[in-house]
Amino acid sequence: MIIVNFKNYESAVGENAVALAKIHEVIAQETGAPLAVAVSAFDLVQVVAAVKIPVFVQHVDAADFGSSTGSIVPQLAKNLGAAGTLLNHSEKRVVEQLPKLVASAKAAGLQIVICAENDDEAAKFAAEFSPDFVAVEPPELIGGDISVTSANPEIIENSVQKVGSTPLLVGAGVKNGTDVATALRLGAAGVLLASGVTKADDPAEVLRDLASGLNQKN
Ligand code: G3P
Repeated sequence: MIIVNFKNYESAVGENAVALAKIHEVIAQETGAPLAVAVSAFDLVQVVAAVKIPVFVQHVDAADFGSSTGSIVPQLAKNLGAAGTLLNHSEKRVVEQLPKLVASAKAAGLQIVICAENDDEAAKFAAEFSPDFVAVEPPELIGGDISVTSANPEIIENSVQKVGSTPLLVGAGVKNGTDVATALRLGAAGVLLASGVTKADDPAEVLRDLASGLNQKN
C-alpha cells in the first residue's frame, strides 16, 4: 500500500488535487500498485468524483451531524465517498482525543491510519485502537531529503516487532522505489509519503518508480 498525503501543498489542493489524483489513478492502473491519496476535506468530493482509487481525508473530528460547527464529521466524510482517514498526523496531533476520534471514525465505517512518532507510540496505538494501519513517521525526517528507510531503519524494525499483527506503514522522506522496497523488506506493509510526489516535476514518473519498489528485492 502506498498512500500519498497531499497535505496543503499548492500543487495538491483544489483543481491540482484532482489532476494529481488522476495521475495516481493512471499509474495504479498501469502498474497494478495499490495507490491511495489523502486529500484536504475541501477537496474530498471532487477528487472522489474523479478517481476510483481509495481517497482518504487527512483528518476527521469526533463529531456528529447537528451542532458541530466547523468540525469534519466522520459519517459525512464516509457518505461523501472517503475510504478512510489519517488520524494524529505529526502536523495534526490529537493524542488525547484519539479514543473518541477512533470510535467515531470506526462507527462511520472509515478505514483508519493512526500516525505515530516512534515505535513505542506505534505499539501503544496498535494495542489500544486496533486501527487498519499504524504509520510511523519520525517528525525530524518529514519533508526532508533523507528517507526514514536509510536514516532510521531501526525504527521500522522495532515498530514491526511491537505492533504485532497491525499492518505498519512508514513515512518521512520516502522518495523512490528503493525506499519502498527497503520498507517492505524490513517488514512494513507500505509507505505514507508526501513531498516526494507533491513537489515532483514529474509525479507520474515518481509514482511509477515508487510502485516498482513493491516488487523489488533489495
Ligand atoms: O504524511 C506523510 C508525511 O508526513 C511524510 O512527508 O514529505 O516526508 O514524504 P514527506
